[in-house]
Amino acid sequence: YVIGIDLGTSAVKALLIDRDGKIRGEASVSYPLFHEHSGWSEQRPEDWVEGTLQAIRDAVAAAGIEPSEVEGISFSGQMHGLVLLDADRKPVRNAILWNDTRTTEQCREIERTLGEDLLHIARNPALEGFTLPKILWVREHEKEVFDRASLFLLPKDYVRYRLTGELHMDYSDAAGTLLLDVAGKVWSRRVLEAFDLPESFCPALIESHGLAGTMLPDIAGQCGLTPVTKVYAGGADNACGAIGAGILSEGLTLCSIGTSGVILAYENNRDSDYSGKVHFFNHGKEDAYYAMGVTLAAGYSLSWFKQTFAAEESFNELLKGVADVKPGSGGLLFTPYIVGERTPHADAQIRGSFIGMDGSHKRDHFARAVMEGITFSLNESVAVFREAGKTVDTIVSIGGGAQNPVWLQMQADIFDARVVALENEQGPGLGAAMLAAYGAGWFASLEECADRFVKHASAYTPNPDAVETYKGLFGIYRDVYSSTRELNN
Ligand code: XUL
Repeated sequence: YVIGIDLGTSAVKALLIDRDGKIRGEASVSYPLFHEHSGWSEQRPEDWVEGTLQAIRDAVAAAGIEPSEVEGISFSGQMHGLVLLDADRKPVRNAILWNDTRTTEQCREIERTLGEDLLHIARNPALEGFTLPKILWVREHEKEVFDRASLFLLPKDYVRYRLTGELHMDYSDAAGTLLLDVAGKVWSRRVLEAFDLPESFCPALIESHGLAGTMLPDIAGQCGLTPVTKVYAGGADNACGAIGAGILSEGLTLCSIGTSGVILAYENNRDSDYSGKVHFFNHGKEDAYYAMGVTLAAGYSLSWFKQTFAAEESFNELLKGVADVKPGSGGLLFTPYIVGERTPHADAQIRGSFIGMDGSHKRDHFARAVMEGITFSLNESVAVFREAGKTVDTIVSIGGGAQNPVWLQMQADIFDARVVALENEQGPGLGAAMLAAYGAGWFASLEECADRFVKHASAYTPNPDAVETYKGLFGIYRDVYSSTRELNN
């Protein structure tokens, strides 16, 4: 057996699977988020460790297996979060998370200092969520705390360190720090020197399926395992989500609609150039990459709509009538910028809109327009890929957006691509388990593992009439951003 740990923002989940990729035990433990000031978002690293040990213990108990039968574990981690350790390897403060936005000034400082080198080396613009701006913030605002720090880690790397006593970071997660030379796969001397950070501040780099250590005996005892269990590095949650959906070769694209939404395309070519319009990160598969666009309020827009206008109903009830509304929602158009937008605008101030309301519109028109607006926003990322010459013809859809057949067909029609759902979708935890299975030598490659573990279910093909309707509306959708940005700026 292997265990995949999905260290998320609200909870950690453990997935125990067998050699056929079948789930034999699973468990989840949640932990708090701290928002001390507006825009701040922090967690206690110790909560992750305790939650992880508990989740492993519960998953092993649920599976009813011998602890020594667990050969390996690996991780999927929430990205970008800053964990600073002192010389005794103890955290000097709470972790500052990916969704913390206090670092706008530091982002401008990074842009000023690195100029064009930033995109060239880190392959991403300086965004508030990324790690380097957080390091600079702590140095500027909490100097005494920073002076005690000797090394930084990302969330899952800290948990792995506590399990093994070994310090590492894998490439897929390191790519979200702005300190990695993404194509060269080394810590960037240029970036470290520009911000006066010693190389010893960064942990050793490792492949996602690489062996990071074995369980420390006392920790193994605490979580019901034995020290024979090997621990493999793991990857960023988006990389692991892609692995768990089989996005392991050129031509495959992922659409994930959760609270936020992600369009992620596999990349063999480390030199692919999207001019920073989408993220470009190392994949969890050796020497592979992925490009990724993000819609900030994807599922969140639909939850907001339900909470505001149909709080007592279930999602199924809310969406029941949507199939009876034709593509285009009778001329009603929604932009899902209710908490700002990331791709392609990177604009925290923009807000959403409903336009084209008609006296005949019913609530079903509004619900459908919300789903279409979310999908249009994701299609902006698909458009960035296509404009850069990438073929997007097969999209694997996961998350809340894959639970509803009307939404799956809508994705096929708006993306103008074949959309497939998965038979037994497990998210990033399965990707983490696959890294452990591959690391442990169960398979010769991650692709071989995916052939066994990842099964496609129904496929949706674009309907030519709907494709035409949506093409026209997408042009109008794209114009709404520039005509409404002054409203909230
Ligand atoms: C990616 C990002 C999020 C986090 C969520 O850039 O910020 O997807 O990884 O955990």
